[in-house]
Amino acid sequence: MVVTAKPLRQKIREASWNQAQVEEASILIVLVADLMAWEKEPARYWKDAPKPVQDYLVPAINQYYNDKPQVQRDEAMRSCGMAAMNLMLVAKSMGYDTCPMDGFDFDKVAKLLNLPDDHTPAMFVCVGKAIKEAMPRGGQLTINEVAIRNQFK
Ligand SMILES: Cc1cc2nc3c(=O)[nH]c(=O)nc-3n(C[C@H](O)[C@H](O)[C@H](O)COP(=O)(O)O)c2cc1C
Repeated sequence: MVVTAKPLRQKIREASWNQAQVEEASILIVLVADLMAWEKEPARYWKDAPKPVQDYLVPAINQYYNDKPQVQRDEAMRSCGMAAMNLMLVAKSMGYDTCPMDGFDFDKVAKLLNLPDDHTPAMFVCVGKAIKEAMPRGGQLTINEVAIRNQFK
C-alpha cells in the first residue's frame, strides 16, 4: 500500500514511535500480507502457466496451506520481505534512499489502513532522499556465524 494522504501519514507516524521518516519521506510503502491469498481464486496465480502445470499446482495450493496458519503466515511474510528488498534495490538504482522498518504498532497501523481481518502489515519501506548518513552499523556478526557450510555441527 502506498500512503499518500498527509493526515494519515501523520497518524501512522504517531503509531511508529514518532519516527520522522514515516511522515517526511517522499513515499511510505506499507508491505501488507494477505494471509488467506492462497484460497482466493488460486487459479489466478497460475493462469499463464502451461495447462499441465496448472493442473498440478492449483490443487496443490490448497493442500499446502489449508489449516496451516503458520505456513500461511510464513509465506506471506516471505513474499513481503522479498518485495520489500526489490523495492529497496530498485529505489537505490534510481538514486533514492530507503529505510526498511518494523518499528511500529502493527495493530494500530492495521486499523489506520482499514485492513481486512485476514490482512496484516509486514513492514514499511520509506523511500526518499536521505538528509543525513545512516547511523553506524550496530554490530556486524562474523561470516562464520551467519554462513553455515553444509550442516550445523
Ligand atoms: C527488521 C528491521 C527493522 C527495522 N526497523 C527500523 C525502524 O523502525 N526504524 C528505522 O529507522 N530503521 C529501521 N531499520 C533499519 C536499521 O535501523 C538500519 O538502518 C539498517 O538495518 C542498516 O542496514 P544493516 O542492517 O545492513 O546494517 C530496520 C531494519 C530491519 C532489518
